[in-house]
Amino acid sequence: MIPQQIIARKRDGEALAPEELEAFLTGYLAGAVGDDQMAAFLMAVYFNGLEGEELNAMVEAMIHSGEVIGRGDGSARPRVDKHSTGGVGDKVSLVLAPLAAEMGMVVPMMSGRGLGHTGGTLDKLESIPGFRTRLALDEFDRVLSEVGCAMIGQTDEIAPLDRRLYALRDVTATVPSLPLITASIMSKKLAEGLDALVLDVKVGRGAFMSRIEDARALARAMVDVGAARGLAVTALLSAMDRPLGRAAGNALEVREAIACLAGGGPAGFRELCIELAAEMALAGGLVDSVEEGLSAAASALAGGGPMERFLRLASAQGGRLDPSRSDFGLPAAPLREVLRAEREGVVAAIDPLRLGYGVIALGGGRTRQDQTIDPAVGFELEVGVGHRVARGAPLAVIHAATADGLAAGAHAVREAIGLEADAAPRPLPLLIDRIRVRPGKA
Ligand code: URA
Repeated sequence: MIPQQIIARKRDGEALAPEELEAFLTGYLAGAVGDDQMAAFLMAVYFNGLEGEELNAMVEAMIHSGEVIGRGDGSARPRVDKHSTGGVGDKVSLVLAPLAAEMGMVVPMMSGRGLGHTGGTLDKLESIPGFRTRLALDEFDRVLSEVGCAMIGQTDEIAPLDRRLYALRDVTATVPSLPLITASIMSKKLAEGLDALVLDVKVGRGAFMSRIEDARALARAMVDVGAARGLAVTALLSAMDRPLGRAAGNALEVREAIACLAGGGPAGFRELCIELAAEMALAGGLVDSVEEGLSAAASALAGGGPMERFLRLASAQGGRLDPSRSDFGLPAAPLREVLRAEREGVVAAIDPLRLGYGVIALGGGRTRQDQTIDPAVGFELEVGVGHRVARGAPLAVIHAATADGLAAGAHAVREAIGLEADAAPRPLPLLIDRIRVRPGKA
């Protein structure tokens, strides 16, 4: 295999044979294909896509690059996970894992780091002092059986090829690609030994798919890849034309997730958690209808069990959260500034893309693969789309480490919040569509 030949053929829009693709991908893990060559290949896929057989070959190579956990661990409870295609302010997993466990599921959640302008669940969890997201599989199993849920990053054992590609795509602008996202998400989920999976496919400026048709095609591709391999998969298309909730930035998002677990938090965020939990229960066979799932999820969340379970999960994974403190002992940025409206108006839009890049500019996300991030920085929005604000009213609180950070953050928020004299904002509905596919019925 000559890597540059394979790259050239993909660059020129040719379809590769499954064996060629497999050789190229496994060659990358073995060191025969370099990061530079893989980056060029990913860009070629970004522009030219992959055909059905190529996508299948890529999914298979990624699944089998590591260990594949078999289903049927003897537990009567279904093993169900959720995965989001990524957005800004998306801290749903932190609420959903303990909520679904409380409802009777086993939730082996394997999450990612920030990707492109989006935040990642692992980075959020690691803002909890001491929290370990790298557990060996036996420790992961122990937490799962003790708490009912565990939240880790990809281990070296599970889909290691995706871990390498994910980090490279993050810094080479090759994330928003239907086949690359499909292979990335489905390979690790198919290696996790799940009974069912719920996908949260984000749509809008802050998502990797900004158009509904593209998001629907991505959702379809993912559910089909899963169902063809025996997995019950549901995809929800949800709005990312604005950030989810009010907080963006790692520790700030953990605080918002804790507020939701404690019975509060922004309404849209809470609603999405309940919808996803209901779909997980339905796909896992715990309820017969989504309505039944919704009421089970709402009452489980209101009962407080998920909060207690989240605290147990954090402590089982080394995290030190202190419920006796109002900030739970999470890191806080040294500088804070309230950004105020320069004029009266209606919030016509809040651009999640600008806000996501704003978090990176503050140091809360990466611009290079090896960067460490500042967990404390970010934004807390004081307004939502459609709100009318007076001149001088607070728009957002910026949490920064330096004066330069404050200035960059203020610039990002001013650019992100579209304040119009008189506008009728038309945000996407929170839930746009649902696709449910069961194995054998694709
Ligand atoms: N989440 C993933 O795990 N992979 C992607 O490619 C995008 C979002």
